[in-house]
Amino acid sequence: MRLDRFLSETTELTRSLAKRALKNGEVTLNGEPVKQAALHVDTEQDQVHLNGERLALVGLRYVMLHKPTEVECTARRGLYPRAIDLVDLPHADRLQPVGRLDVDTTGLLLLTDDGQWLHRITSPKHRCAKVYLAELAEPLEGAHAERAIAQFEEGILLEDDDTPTAPATLELLAPTRARLTITEGRYHQVKRMFGALGNRVVSLHRHSIGPIALPDTLAPGEWRELTPEEIARF
Ligand code: URA
Repeated sequence: MRLDRFLSETTELTRSLAKRALKNGEVTLNGEPVKQAALHVDTEQDQVHLNGERLALVGLRYVMLHKPTEVECTARRGLYPRAIDLVDLPHADRLQPVGRLDVDTTGLLLLTDDGQWLHRITSPKHRCAKVYLAELAEPLEGAHAERAIAQFEEGILLEDDDTPTAPATLELLAPTRARLTITEGRYHQVKRMFGALGNRVVSLHRHSIGPIALPDTLAPGEWRELTPEEIARF
């Protein structure tokens, strides 16, 4: 890897600031001061220091966050804080959400900079189950409830979509409290599915993604890195 790229990957410096640091004599390679941005760095063997501090590439990161409301899953800064702003890791801005949640949705958000792992979970081909808990505006009872369960199981053609939703499992925990398991990640999917029944989601919480459930120990706004065993479950 080129030295300027190594510097920008291991620090907050942009490539041009990395070049400036090199010109200013702030960088050593295996103990020798170096100034050439194009020098090759063997990332396993070579020792690079910036102002005396040893630099090392960070490995791939896998994080679970208990997303609170009023937090956005976007990369751009907007009205609300971003999910990545809550994760106190170097280069957190390189983490991507594994399936976004709406600003008013709470619950399990996975974040990673491992594109292949992200794809394994989000690709429709893999049909990874996501479990949501929804509070509904209108009670679902009796024949209405049975019809809703059957419609979700059969699939619903949502407005602006070309194909019906994949079979989803609706369980009613109370007349206005539902657990819904879906295997897709369409835009506002849960809200649109209940909307298609003439109902409305008042609050939404993601309980789990595939084999990973949000632990009770993680309060809203808290995060932790996944264990190697959790990462390997996907
Ligand atoms: N479905 C929604 O409607 N919103 C979410 O945040 C997640 C799934």
